[in-house]
Amino acid sequence: MFEYPKISGSFSLSEQVVLYSGDCLDLLATIPDNTLQLVVTSPPYNIGKEYEKKLKLDDYLKQQANVIKESVRCLSPHGSICWQVGNYVDNGAIIPLDTVLYPIFADLGLKMRNRIIWHFEHGLHCSLRFSGRYETIIWFTKSDDYVFNLDPVRVPQKYPGKKYFKGPKVGQYSGNPLGKNPGDVWIIPNVKSNHVEKTEHPCQFPVELIERLVLSMTNEGDWVFDPFNGVGSTIIAAIRHNRKGVGAEIVQKYTDIAADRIQKEFIGILKTRPMNKPVYDPIIAGNSLTIAPWTLEEKNEQMILLEKSSEEQNYGGK
Ligand SMILES: C[S@@+](CC[C@H](N)C(=O)[O-])C[C@H]1O[C@@H](n2cnc3c(N)ncnc32)[C@H](O)[C@@H]1O
Repeated sequence: MFEYPKISGSFSLSEQVVLYSGDCLDLLATIPDNTLQLVVTSPPYNIGKEYEKKLKLDDYLKQQANVIKESVRCLSPHGSICWQVGNYVDNGAIIPLDTVLYPIFADLGLKMRNRIIWHFEHGLHCSLRFSGRYETIIWFTKSDDYVFNLDPVRVPQKYPGKKYFKGPKVGQYSGNPLGKNPGDVWIIPNVKSNHVEKTEHPCQFPVELIERLVLSMTNEGDWVFDPFNGVGSTIIAAIRHNRKGVGAEIVQKYTDIAADRIQKEFIGILKTRPMNKPVYDPIIAGNSLTIAPWTLEEKNEQMILLEKSSEEQNYGGK
């Protein structure tokens, strides 16, 4: 009978899935130099979530710098590191975390390849500023010789039937039959209460977000690492595409959920939102809640007025 890989609690090059229960710096200390092909994470944002103690920004950045430095030591010379972040909020003023984290990566000699805007439609409604509806993924490489596979992550063109209208290729299709580059603005639903992947973790990655990074920045058999593993979304994206996954998480209940999700992924029963599925459009879907009741009432009032005035006109015409 086929045996699924076991989930190991400690790192070794011979493992395929490692879920470390504890501080990521302790796990990193056990990983050899130049081992990891992709480090991808959504670190604590220091905004006082249940799993974090709100630190002064400088202390937070020092803590992040230690994890980034160690991750870079373990990163392959052809590897990539992606830090997915939002805003630090201080007395109503926002500080975009990518801007303050950037110097840490640059000082380590990394090169930024993209600042990906991840746009989603659901979140808190702000009253004193516009509601935040995007976060970023800052992508750095350790060298200029880095893995980037565009074909597996191409998306359908808007006009695949478009042809060259002049020049030597006139009449031929101008687009790549495999699709186009997905660009650096990614519209992917975030994991809120009605998302198929929702667990009790307050801020999970959608798996499809990480699949795109895994497919483009690694090859089969490579190691993918998440220092702030949460409920294991990064590892799921990695093993789904025959990569090896390693992650650390300090909260035991999240590691337990991650282990359960990974087992389900192995046996093919983990429900996730498929990559490239169009974003649900309630109007196209005919959802009745898209019609504002007050517009109906308004219409009714208008209709009554119209009817009244046409009655009056008719009456007057008699
Ligand atoms: C933003 S969440 C990541 C969620 C994850 N992307 C997912 O999809 O589940 C950050 C996680 O880092 C964990 N964490 C915080 N400090 C940590 C540390 N020093 N080492 C390991 N995990 C840590 C928190 O408990 C939290 O689950």
